[in-house]
Amino acid sequence: MTLIKKNPTTTKSWAALKIEIEKLKRANLKDLFNQDKDRFKNNSIIHNEIIFDYSKNYINQTIKNLLIDLANELNLKDAIDLQFSGSKINETENRAVLHTALRDKNETPIIVDGINIANQINISLNKMKQFCHEIHNGLRLGCSNKKIKYIVNIGIGGSDLGPVMVTEALKPFWIEGIETYFVSNIDFTHLQEVLKKVKADETLFLIASKTFTTQETMTNAFSARDWFLTKMKDEKHIAKHFVALSTNKQAVEQFGIDLENMFEFWDWVGGRYSLWSAIGLSIALTVGFDNFNLLLDGAFEADQHFKNQSLENNIPVLMALIGIININFLDCTSQAILPYSQYLHRFPAYLQQAEMESNGKQIDRNGNLVHYNTGAIIFGEAGTNGQHAFYQLIHQGTTIIPCDFIGVVNSLQKLPPQLRDHQNKLMANCFAQTEALMNGKTLAEVQLESKNPEIDAFKVFYGNRPTNTFLLKSLSPKNLGALIAYYEHKIFVQGYIWNIYSYDQYGVQLGKQLADKVLPNLQSNQPNIDQYNSSTNGLINYYNQWKN
Ligand code: F6P
Repeated sequence: MTLIKKNPTTTKSWAALKIEIEKLKRANLKDLFNQDKDRFKNNSIIHNEIIFDYSKNYINQTIKNLLIDLANELNLKDAIDLQFSGSKINETENRAVLHTALRDKNETPIIVDGINIANQINISLNKMKQFCHEIHNGLRLGCSNKKIKYIVNIGIGGSDLGPVMVTEALKPFWIEGIETYFVSNIDFTHLQEVLKKVKADETLFLIASKTFTTQETMTNAFSARDWFLTKMKDEKHIAKHFVALSTNKQAVEQFGIDLENMFEFWDWVGGRYSLWSAIGLSIALTVGFDNFNLLLDGAFEADQHFKNQSLENNIPVLMALIGIININFLDCTSQAILPYSQYLHRFPAYLQQAEMESNGKQIDRNGNLVHYNTGAIIFGEAGTNGQHAFYQLIHQGTTIIPCDFIGVVNSLQKLPPQLRDHQNKLMANCFAQTEALMNGKTLAEVQLESKNPEIDAFKVFYGNRPTNTFLLKSLSPKNLGALIAYYEHKIFVQGYIWNIYSYDQYGVQLGKQLADKVLPNLQSNQPNIDQYNSSTNGLINYYNQWKN
């Protein structure tokens, strides 16, 4: 088995798709529903407690068949197997991509560089489980023999966004007596505001960094350490209050964290795919290890579905292929993620990194510049807040923004009867939006209810805005795990079809290098900086001038 490295636009199916989508574009999406009473049934998939409805898209059976042909022409099934088996598909970093192994309940033996990683994963999970048990039951106390109450995770990007999103989503499961905070921004105010809320002798700092070299995280970690030492005085107390989540043993030791207090993961776990690894310790400490395990269970079941289900009945594959219609054939360059659950309010931000850092690439796997669109711009907000902010543009703007709506049927809060209507109202909005985006409103319909014909044109909605809807029975740890895993696999499929490397992130390097170059100019207060262009020079010089 090898990865095919082919420009997808040169395939036979791509050419055929172009013709068919051109034809379908002229249709009204709502007419497709009128023509096929079973359109929902034929264009939705139920997996466990999640429904994925993709029927409100530019899709018909011919297009669906051609999309599957495209996937087959590019040997997608082989690529999936290669990823799961630990082949070094992240070729630009010479790494395997095995976040799926972290949640593999079958503990399938996978050998990476001569080591069976299933054993390593088991050891790491058991260490996390034991640690959570000790913290939650007061068997591991702080330096003044008080229970740990505050968890402060210091990390950024993948070492922050996943855990933040999951802990927020699972708020009803928070362990009583635990308060968790996340610090990511190098802006000192982020750390400062958190430190105001915690007591040093009851706080556990998790320094979460795959590399343990990231400027933001290390700067915050050293400042947190200084703050802790001013309060607790003695360096020996560090051991009880600082742990590391990392792949870099040497740097962890240099920071002063005993390796006993290091939770290890490995280079075959990508940063933005790492919430399932030791990076998830903040999740396990917050919602309990059992719930963390259920999150892994849900993801595992989604992995099994992705790996074993036929392409035409495969949620992540269809998510990816529908995205390809929108991005490559309908020229949509952005996508909105709209969770109708306040608990999922950080899901769009999490997906922003997952999708944009993975598939925001312009060079294909052969080293050539691509001449087709790749990753879309991801943005979003929890419904209904988004409705009162940017939906105007989604409904009547000049660009089409495909949307993923995510609804939850049962709230996990035990609500008194008078409050239960919140959920019905919330979901009524969710369903209504997908309906409105697809149906639109014609001039004739506007005129029927018109009071002032002069403004009728402003009230027309052209409709035909494509949407997907996920409906979850509840926002349980398991369902959340599955939802995240679907998106992870969708990203993989799209990247594979676009013939780009989804698992590197060279695009974030240049800014980091230049920041290192600019920093001494700001630290030394050098006057009259002139080594950059006049804009950068001017801004730096004003910064240095004004700061005193
Ligand atoms: O933003 C670039 C990046 O390398 C991400 O891929 C990663 O999630 C983040 O920085 C943090 O890296 P680390 O976990 O090594 O501190």
